Amino acid sequence: MKNLIAGNWKMNPNSKKEAQELFDAVKKGIKDVASEVVICPPDLFLSSLKGSALGAQNIFWEEKGAFTGEISAVMLKDLGVEYVIIGHSERRKYFGETDETVNKKIKKALEVGLKIIFCVGETAEEREQGETQEVLQRQIQQGLKDVVDIDNINVAYEPVWAIGTGNNCSVEETKESIDFIRKFVKPETIIIYGGSVKSENSGAYIKQAGANGLLVGGASLDAEEFLKIVKSAE
Ligand code: PGA
Repeated sequence: MKNLIAGNWKMNPNSKKEAQELFDAVKKGIKDVASEVVICPPDLFLSSLKGSALGAQNIFWEEKGAFTGEISAVMLKDLGVEYVIIGHSERRKYFGETDETVNKKIKKALEVGLKIIFCVGETAEEREQGETQEVLQRQIQQGLKDVVDIDNINVAYEPVWAIGTGNNCSVEETKESIDFIRKFVKPETIIIYGGSVKSENSGAYIKQAGANGLLVGGASLDAEEFLKIVKSAE
């Protein structure tokens, strides 16, 4: 199984020029790597970045029509985009995504033939209450409700408290959650870790926690650091 390393640029950078420079530097550095490396820039950069696997950070579940501000899975597929992140905790927190809307998006993306990076993870509060597994189970079961073919689904375990905080999840705790998630998917489903991944901690998630890759936010905006992370997974 190939490792999957995805860079989630979130709402960065601020210009097409910077996006191109960052993309080119990453593309150059991943030529001979064994992992599948996917760059997920803001949508408006997707059509100009070429020559390496791309992912979007979100979709809407309808194909077309009067949905101001939205982008469909069909449009992304037509551009040659291969992946889409669905259910990221920032979308759940700031844009009202629920397990139900995540489920609609997953179904549409699968129908259109996009590969999915399906994010799940508990908040700090849920973790303190000992609810981590309950939350993961709910997010997975409801997110994948009535989904029969999960071959194109990759799951990202992203504890919300670890995202963008510098407080990455320990290898032991990550392993526990990944092993738990494994019960609800196939043995060959790719399960990756995300949350304050840096080159100092990245290798351990793959070598010790059983992750099949990484979802990298902040550190994916620095080509050199991102490439170190990619190499740590080799
Ligand atoms: P981070 O973000 O690496 O900046 O913590 C990860 C993510 O949100 O996917």
